[in-house]
Amino acid sequence: MLKHILFPPVLLPQNKVRRVVEDKTILITGASFGIGKELALYLSEFQTHLILVARTKDKLDELKELVDSKNSTSEVYAVDLRNENERIEFINCIKNSSVDFLILNAGKSIRRPLLESLDRFHDVTRTNDINYLAPVHLMLGLIPSLAQTKGKVINVSAINVLYPPPPFWSVYQASKTAFDQWFRANEIELNKLGLSTSTIYFPLVRTRMIEPNEKYQKVPAMSPVQAAKRIAKLMSGRRRSYKPWWHYTIAPFVWFFFPIYRLIVKAKLK
Ligand SMILES: NC(=O)c1ccc[n+]([C@@H]2O[C@H](COP(=O)([O-])OP(=O)(O)OC[C@H]3O[C@@H](n4cnc5c(N)ncnc54)[C@H](OP(=O)(O)O)[C@@H]3O)[C@@H](O)[C@H]2O)c1
Repeated sequence: MLKHILFPPVLLPQNKVRRVVEDKTILITGASFGIGKELALYLSEFQTHLILVARTKDKLDELKELVDSKNSTSEVYAVDLRNENERIEFINCIKNSSVDFLILNAGKSIRRPLLESLDRFHDVTRTNDINYLAPVHLMLGLIPSLAQTKGKVINVSAINVLYPPPPFWSVYQASKTAFDQWFRANEIELNKLGLSTSTIYFPLVRTRMIEPNEKYQKVPAMSPVQAAKRIAKLMSGRRRSYKPWWHYTIAPFVWFFFPIYRLIVKAKLK
């Protein structure tokens, strides 16, 4: 019940989506699992051409079969987007592909207390590579092509970027916030070039990403299908961002009660 109130069905007229995405080339990063995969499946209903990127080749191949059996076509690229050389090679492959939509979705989350991170600087570099540097690099490589198609870029972000930084989540929070800031700081210049830009601030979505966290299994979360439809809605409309409806109600409370929460966490720390 609570889940339906927090995450009501997405009203998305199929005709509207079709009008916007039909015959368009759509690049989705992180398409092998979760939200990216569901988005690819949803968009494959509308005669699209999908460029699908992630590391897990067999998952991408399975997805390609499904997409191509619908009305759509696809190309898949098994690329580790954390790796700069692989990114350069990938950008060179697709920079003349006339991309109409770029969905920056690939990401990694991490929760780790500071004292368990002292010998884990690689957590910081890995997470930044995929959540911050990869989308920046892809944008820089594709801006000329996106300017030609008057394309649209969607940043798949997280609602926590809009709240005070929670303890134990420093690396994820910093990397997602870094790209959010980079993206928004460039919006005026991108819009001037003819590109549209939107950011989707997701709450919890029930994907592989949240599986390691036991607490998250008991709280309501958006389904990946619903999340995919939210992205499709943003693709087919003019809104600059999506936030869950309750964000505006709870945001003041989150900020107000955050100092108390800090005290509780501090008291629990050994
Ligand atoms: N789930 C949530 O609660 C939640 C909430 C807010 C925001 N988000 C955001 O939503 C986006 C999608 O996450 P999800 O929930 O769908 O998680 P997911 O199921 O774990 O999917 C993440 C996707 O990113 C790809 N990826 C990860 N590292 C990569 C790399 N180095 N190179 C290429 N691709 C890589 C993964 O593919 P491979 O492993 O095959 O490479 C996978 O396809 C992320 O940006 C995340 O930050 C999620």
